Amino acid sequence: MVTPLPPFALDPSAPPRLALAEGEVHVWCLFAERFGDAAALARLADLMTPDERARQSRFVRARDRHLQLLARALVRVLFSAYAGEPPDAWRFGTGPHGKPYLAAPALAPPLAFNLSHTEGLVAAAFTLRDEVGVDVEDLDRRAPTLDVARRFFAPSEVARLEAEPPERQTDVFFAFWTLKEAYLKARGLGLSAPLASFAFDLDADPPAIRFAPPIDDEPARWRFVRDAPSDRHRLAVAVARPAGAACHVRIGRVEPAGAGR
Ligand SMILES: CC(C)(COP(=O)(O)OP(=O)(O)OC[C@H]1O[C@@H](n2cnc3c(N)ncnc32)[C@H](O)[C@@H]1OP(=O)(O)O)[C@@H](O)C(=O)NCCC(=O)NCCS
Repeated sequence: MVTPLPPFALDPSAPPRLALAEGEVHVWCLFAERFGDAAALARLADLMTPDERARQSRFVRARDRHLQLLARALVRVLFSAYAGEPPDAWRFGTGPHGKPYLAAPALAPPLAFNLSHTEGLVAAAFTLRDEVGVDVEDLDRRAPTLDVARRFFAPSEVARLEAEPPERQTDVFFAFWTLKEAYLKARGLGLSAPLASFAFDLDADPPAIRFAPPIDDEPARWRFVRDAPSDRHRLAVAVARPAGAACHVRIGRVEPAGAGR
């Protein structure tokens, strides 16, 4: 089940108050082009640690630095919204394949999160405890070819894609791509897992997953949701829940501070 969340404004001095129930996943989408006010961006930049600032400055393109800044601020303001400390209080670490997690201060119950960004869009998913992964992609970027799918996807996914009329192939390609990324990101595996060793069935509602060696996992513990945050963006979220346990995904939008005033 997917339901909307009311929007909030990204203001580090006034994070909203948000709460997550057991089994609930909140996915927040932020459209980067709406965040152009220099003074507001400077306030968001103040939240970054020196390491985050150094990393951000290494991006060559201004729009990537912009996305990085928004991503860092979004995650910090959201932790504050769910857990109450100020946005600059949070410290992050990364797992063996680069998955970020909250290192301090410790929260009970722990909050899990994941982040994705693409041209024009940042998305962050938050949930209690459970493994979560999110991926967003921009359909307007260079069109993927069937060759990419034939090289990386599972045979059933390639067959499904080849059966689509050409005008549907980009959409179907990115449906598979975002789901595969969301799963890998929930597991924190990055690209260390072979992409053909798990396959999605898009005809199931919600999408279903199958595994083949070397991936050792249990399809019944996974829930997947797909969404289209805009005409050009596609999103998928993956969350691991105990088999049979309820899962409720809610999707909302983050606006610039002062928007609509
Ligand atoms: C790094 C990776 C996890 C995601 O990369 P991506 O799709 O290019 O980028 P996204 O914007 O979706 O995700 C990046 C964010 O994921 C998080 N992340 C990084 N490594 C991660 C991992 N191992 N697991 C989960 N999340 C991870 C980080 O927050 C990162 O953003 P940040 O560096 O600004 O903090 C990895 O899967 C990758 O390199 N993918 C390349 C694309 C590809 O070949 N995909 C095949 C899909 S079929």
